[in-house]
Amino acid sequence: MAARRILLGITGGIAAYKSAELVRLLKKAGHSVRVVMTAGAEAFITPLTFQALSGEPVRTSLLDPEAESGMGHIELAKWADQVVIAPASADFIARLAQGMADDLLATLCSATEAPIAVVPAMNQAMWGNHRTQRNIRLLEEDPQISIWGPDRGEQACGDVGAGRMLEPVELAGLIEQSGDTGPLAGRRVVITAGPTREPIDPVRYISNHSSGKMGYALAEAARDAGADVVLVSGPVNLTAPAGVEVRTVETAEDMLRVSSSAVDEGCDVFIASAAVADYRPETCAGDKIKKTSQEMALPLVRNPDTLATIAARDNPPFTVGFAAETADVEKYALDKLQRKKLRMIVANDVSVPGLGFNSENNAVTVFWPEGRESFGPDSKRQIAGHLMALIRNHLEAAG
Ligand code: PMT
Repeated sequence: MAARRILLGITGGIAAYKSAELVRLLKKAGHSVRVVMTAGAEAFITPLTFQALSGEPVRTSLLDPEAESGMGHIELAKWADQVVIAPASADFIARLAQGMADDLLATLCSATEAPIAVVPAMNQAMWGNHRTQRNIRLLEEDPQISIWGPDRGEQACGDVGAGRMLEPVELAGLIEQSGDTGPLAGRRVVITAGPTREPIDPVRYISNHSSGKMGYALAEAARDAGADVVLVSGPVNLTAPAGVEVRTVETAEDMLRVSSSAVDEGCDVFIASAAVADYRPETCAGDKIKKTSQEMALPLVRNPDTLATIAARDNPPFTVGFAAETADVEKYALDKLQRKKLRMIVANDVSVPGLGFNSENNAVTVFWPEGRESFGPDSKRQIAGHLMALIRNHLEAAG
């Protein structure tokens, strides 16, 4: 990974303490980091902390004769090859959206040609406020600017919702990816995740226990490896990973349509981790079905198979399937590998309590025509990292 020059802007918010860990991670990865703080940031954490961690003087003021006699603000703007504003407060986002240059950090953002990543952190009501959202939309339209996050969860003020700053380790991953330095840089990866829902009537559906966690972990691992990632996701209760394009679907038929068009747009690797319903009700009742008899039969018809359809293309991407089995795992996985003409299959014994469906952890055995490798039990994020490394090795071996 190439060493980069990262200008880290810190604005006023309690999440400023997390940026200290970010500096530590970036330095550990070999990058040069220079920190600029707004007056609001200094109310939460001292410049001395960042000076100690970055090994560089911290800049806080635009009109500082001493600092300007050294590396002046224009030089600093030119020095950076990536600007990251973390945390970015609602106030700073508003000033950036207006192109203001009323303090050192805002001035640097006006003067730099480097990409600027804005990492919002604020109370959930402030994040949801229509004026903040209008400013975010303005920034999203700006080709120099990316918005990373925010995350959902419990906030320092006790509220729960969207507005938490991304964790330092995730930000460090995004910074690596933004430098196009990862092992999958330049590759486009399409991943399916989560369950599908097959409607019976307006209020009922057939589905399964997939939470989407495995697929979302794969998307993060692919992103951290530098890939351009599209995540085709069934209905789940997870936050979209920063830097990943999520396209939501409901049914197996949607899954095929949306995945096919994502692959049409260019795809080097296709990974199907979704638990797609094999059958759907033959018809979806227009009104809620009433309980008129003791028994009822629901005629089902086969759904299209997204994985098999994509693998059967004339010039398919490197296609990886999953096999969730409760018995004869290896036999069924190998059968799917051959029948669906896959490059790899990830076999998941979903009969083991605490692993597989709707859990944090997993254990898998990956099969390909000439070999196999097992990973876990481990967190889905760790397993995803191992899988991505294995896929990369196979891609490289294939040339
Ligand atoms: O979502 P989590 O809670 O994190 O759980 C993860 C998981 C257990 C769902 C995941 O690790 C997993 O095993 N996914 C595959 C589940 C599955 O439906 O397997 P399958 O053996 O029925 O299908 C085989 C393969 O064909 C899968 O890659 C599946 O995505 C694909 N398929 C199946 C049917 C269909 N109509 N279209 C498909 O693309």
